[in-house]
Amino acid sequence: MNGKYNASKLALSLIKDEMTIGIGSGSTVEVFLNLLGEKIRNERLRIYGIPSSYQAMLVGLRNGIILTDLAERQPDICIDGADQVDSQLNCIKGGGAALTREKILAHASEKVFILVDESKLVEKLSMPVPIEVLPFAYGYVFKKLSSICKPKLREGKGKVGPLITDNGNFIIDCDFGVLSDPEAIEAELNSIAGIVENGVFTSELIDAVIVGSDSSAKFRKPEFR
Ligand code: 5RP
Repeated sequence: MNGKYNASKLALSLIKDEMTIGIGSGSTVEVFLNLLGEKIRNERLRIYGIPSSYQAMLVGLRNGIILTDLAERQPDICIDGADQVDSQLNCIKGGGAALTREKILAHASEKVFILVDESKLVEKLSMPVPIEVLPFAYGYVFKKLSSICKPKLREGKGKVGPLITDNGNFIIDCDFGVLSDPEAIEAELNSIAGIVENGVFTSELIDAVIVGSDSSAKFRKPEFR
């Protein structure tokens, strides 16, 4: 928990009055938003936010963030978490099934910061890649995926049947083993008709990963920045 807190504390120093934030999803983002809420109240800031999920929307509202959307504002900064981060700072996201809007917000934002605790760091990405799929295309996509990975339909919690994303779609978790070329896999997945988006976020998209440990946090930037 301290790692998430320390990463969030450091990310807070990036936020200035009147900024618009692309708000990712997950427990780390929630820690960040709770700290931001305190800052908004103490310093009487006006902070705008574009949420990537209903979770982000509700936690943002509770913390005094003024909700807006991409039709109205461009995010100055995107703050998000990740499920795995490799040594090149490529990420896998989508453990919370919010990957599509998260990726749109990352692309739309001036700067992108990913907040993680040390447990998310790996040498090579290896967890199953979450893929958002249009229900209409499920059968076709599942068959296509079966030739390149081990696909598994994600089940809902608190309901029977598949998990339904905030966009009304399914999630297929696709096990490739170790991802030797994340960029190629991202492109290959998105070339399959019916796949809305996938959870590979390559380092080109990311300005820095903020890694929190039990005692501190630091910025890690992709080599080319
Ligand atoms: C949601 C995500 C999250 O950022 C990711 O799952 C990390 O979550 P947490 O901060 O709870 O570990 O990609 O789709």
